[in-house]
Amino acid sequence: MVKTKPFVKWVGGKSQLLEQLDAQLPVDFGDWKDVTYIEPFVGGGAMLFYMLQQYPNICHAVINDVNPDLMTCYRTVRDMPEELITSLMDIQNIYNELLTEDARRDFFLAVRDRYNEKNLDPIENTTKFFFLNRTCFNGLYRVNKKGLFNVPFGKYVNPQICDPMTIRKDSELLQRVEILTDDFEATFDYAHGNTLFYFDPPYRPLSNTSSFKEYTKEAFNDDAQIRLKKYCDRINEAGFHFMLSNSDCKGKSEDDKFFDVLYAEYQIEKVWASRNINSNPVKRGKLTEILVHNYTTTKANSYNGNTQMNITSIYAAEDKAQYNQVI
Ligand SMILES: C[S@@+](CC[C@H](N)C(=O)[O-])C[C@H]1O[C@@H](n2cnc3c(N)ncnc32)[C@H](O)[C@@H]1O
Repeated sequence: MVKTKPFVKWVGGKSQLLEQLDAQLPVDFGDWKDVTYIEPFVGGGAMLFYMLQQYPNICHAVINDVNPDLMTCYRTVRDMPEELITSLMDIQNIYNELLTEDARRDFFLAVRDRYNEKNLDPIENTTKFFFLNRTCFNGLYRVNKKGLFNVPFGKYVNPQICDPMTIRKDSELLQRVEILTDDFEATFDYAHGNTLFYFDPPYRPLSNTSSFKEYTKEAFNDDAQIRLKKYCDRINEAGFHFMLSNSDCKGKSEDDKFFDVLYAEYQIEKVWASRNINSNPVKRGKLTEILVHNYTTTKANSYNGNTQMNITSIYAAEDKAQYNQVI
């Protein structure tokens, strides 16, 4: 089978962590029947496309993101792949024939202005979204307070704007996916039977200066992280499974136990990740991420006894005391 990948580059994309995430799934996940898989912060969908290919027992998937243009891309790829490929080939040919960097920058800025007018049909909107994603600085998606996309020109020569094989394969996989554009809490009613939620919310910044989390005009602050934890409680009480990833804020300070305290009742594991959105290469090292889940036996700990360090037990006693202060 040809393995496919996400059709957009997305900050915080999980491509490099798929193996570790897979190892933290419930041990018998592959044997569950008629699975519903829900991703309330889908972003670029690295985990989504992995799961859809790896687990044919996922009969139904639901994806959501608060970014309306991103979700229009998912619908366009699912429902109109051939029209999209034609439109992307057109813009790619025009762009790659421009001979100077100034000409490419002018073209980029004209596309960005037109995109920000926000009155485009789905094919044109998705074409411009893909174009900006491949030609802007580092493939970032960032909007200003007015919700206008403001990432600068990326100076790439001959970028691949159209990747027909990825679009066709992703389109095929998306046929069993329901696509929502809402706040993450709107996904609850879609859960039934054997359901796994995977959450990859905007990261809590690791330092006061590295605050890249402006995917949307509303910041995802600590109140939002706490609201998400309460949503996880609701999922847990209803008998569904969840797994959640976030940055480990102890990378910032040994004393910062925000997530250890917040998720003290659940299993917390650590994984290593490399971040590459920092413009200073020296700061693009390996950082620790946390993974939280509400089930005890994962694929990893059933293979090897205790391969991953479970930090819940280390902090359990003092976290219980701090827990009420956070909530
Ligand atoms: C870290 S990214 C997800 C990365 C993604 N899992 C991947 O592999 O590319 C977080 C996403 O959450 C979305 N988001 C922010 N606030 C949200 C909210 N309140 N409800 C739903 N989605 C939200 C952002 O638009 C962004 O795409």
